[in-house]
Amino acid sequence: MDARLQKRVQRYGWDKAAAHYERYWQNQLEPAQTALLDMAQLKRGERVLDVACGTGLVTLRAARDIGPEGEVVGTDISEEMIAVAGSIAGACRTGNVSFVRMDAEALDLASSSFDAALCALGLMYAPDPEHAVAEMHRVTKSGGRAVCAVWGERHMCGWASIFPIVDACVQSEVCPMFFRIGTGDALRLAFSSAGFKDISLRRLQTTLLYADATEACAAAFVGGPVALAYSRFSDAVKAMAHDDYLRSIEPYRVGNGYAIPGEFVVVAGYK
Ligand SMILES: C[S@@+](CC[C@H](N)C(=O)[O-])C[C@H]1O[C@@H](n2cnc3c(N)ncnc32)[C@H](O)[C@@H]1O
Repeated sequence: MDARLQKRVQRYGWDKAAAHYERYWQNQLEPAQTALLDMAQLKRGERVLDVACGTGLVTLRAARDIGPEGEVVGTDISEEMIAVAGSIAGACRTGNVSFVRMDAEALDLASSSFDAALCALGLMYAPDPEHAVAEMHRVTKSGGRAVCAVWGERHMCGWASIFPIVDACVQSEVCPMFFRIGTGDALRLAFSSAGFKDISLRRLQTTLLYADATEACAAAFVGGPVALAYSRFSDAVKAMAHDDYLRSIEPYRVGNGYAIPGEFVVVAGYK
């Protein structure tokens, strides 16, 4: 799939996922987001960038960490994600954040202008994640840092068959290189190629918990990166894809629910 098409699939897919995202993913992604913020060690008064910010789950926690004298800018390729993030920030009267639609690979931001650049669970969707890390390096001030979290190795993520199942229905690939940047040392290498120093890496094992099959399917199909393809399936194709996915996660069924293993990789580096 060419890069422009991949970006469109992600942009409009996440537009569709935006209203469902927090319900299905907030708790499941919390361990990776907490590790990322822990490694970022944000300080009061700092200027922070949150790339691929989604609904602002990390952005708003960063805003609390840096206090009213600091500033956080959240960027995301999806207009709807930005809209949801803006309304949540407005509702909780967080004055030190702003959100703007922007591609992670082309940050329309001044060089050396942020103390810290963060990206939680966004790099897997960029056609060229190394370029996105290089952009984060460019906008980070000398002495500042970047921290990125991604999903880990495919064989460690029990839900991984969602991609081939959807790909088979659309005869295309919705997210072709999803697991590449979390495999082996790829993310650490992206950081060192971008110019970051003192790089550290953490791998976290996690478990995605779903109360039942309906919730497991909704999280996989409605609330994430395959949402655009899925929205175009007929009811029959939806039912077939659900059956395939449930068969693939059957090893992780616990009673009516599911406890699906997963892995996150979190990398931090200094400029
Ligand atoms: C799994 S969500 C993560 C959102 C948020 N960082 C969090 O931790 O909850 C992935 C986000 O990446 C965004 N995204 C995908 N491709 C992108 C790109 N090329 N540039 C910027 N954002 C992108 C999506 O729109 C979506 O909001």
